[in-house]
Amino acid sequence: MEVLIRDTPLEGAEVAAKVVRKKILEKPHPTLGLATGGTPLKMYQELIRMHNEEGLSFQHCTTFNLDEYVGLPPDNGQSYHYYMKNNLFDHIDLPSDKYHLPDGNADNLRQSCKDYERKIKDVGGIDLQVLGIGANGHIGFNEPTGSFASRTWIKILSEQTIRDNSKYFGPTEKVPYHVVTMGIATIMEAKHCLLIANGAKKADAVRKMIEGAVSASCPASILQMHPRVTVVLDEEAAYLLSAKDHYKWVEANKLDWQKY
Ligand code: PGA
Repeated sequence: MEVLIRDTPLEGAEVAAKVVRKKILEKPHPTLGLATGGTPLKMYQELIRMHNEEGLSFQHCTTFNLDEYVGLPPDNGQSYHYYMKNNLFDHIDLPSDKYHLPDGNADNLRQSCKDYERKIKDVGGIDLQVLGIGANGHIGFNEPTGSFASRTWIKILSEQTIRDNSKYFGPTEKVPYHVVTMGIATIMEAKHCLLIANGAKKADAVRKMIEGAVSASCPASILQMHPRVTVVLDEEAAYLLSAKDHYKWVEANKLDWQKY
C-alpha cells in the first residue's frame, strides 16, 4: 500500500483530489468509483475548485457510487443520490446519464444489483475507487465478518455504523438499517483504490487495515491483497501506525513521476 500522511484533513483532501485528477487526465474515458459520508467532502470541494479554476473536466467520466440506503427516495436529503448531486454532480460537467448509484428502491432488487455489476463491467471496470473506512473497518457498507467474495447486494448495517451515521440525521430521523452496497469482490476489482481516513476515531481501524492480519473482522484489511492502493491519512488517523516513519520516508523518496 502507498500510505500518504498529511498534517490536516484539508491537506489530505488536496492530495486525494490530485490522485483523482491524475486518473482523469491519463485516461480518455475514466470510470470513477465514488464514496459518500463526511470523509470525501473536502476532496469533492477541491475537485469542484479544480473544475472552476483549472478547467478540470468530468465530461468523459463515468461514475459508480459504492452504496445507497434502502427505502429513501433519491430526493430525500439523507439519500446518497441527493448527497452526490448536492456535493459534486451539480457543480461539475459530468453528464447526467454518466453517474450511477445502487437503487435502494428497486422492485426487483436481485436484478437491479446484477445490473449494477454488469454496468461496471460494460464500461471496462472502475479505474479509481474512492473509499472511506468505518470505525469498525467497513468499506462501502461491508460490515465486519461479511464475505470477502461479496457482490453488490442488500446488507444490514451494524449497530455501531447506525450510531456513527446518526450524526448526519436529524433528531427525529431514523437511520435506515438496510443498504445496498458494492461487495468486497466488486471493490477489489477496481484497478486502483484511494482510501481516505481522518481523525483519531478511525486510527484503530486504519492500523488493522494496514498493519493487522487480513481478516473479515476488519473488511478493509483485504486491501492488503490489492495490487494498487493509495491511503491518505491525517496525523490523527495515522497515530497508531507502527511504521509511520517508514511510510513518510518512502513518500519522501519517490521518483518524480510517482508523486501527485
Ligand atoms: P464517514 O464514513 O466518512 O462518514 O466517516 C466513512 C465510512 O463509513 O466509510
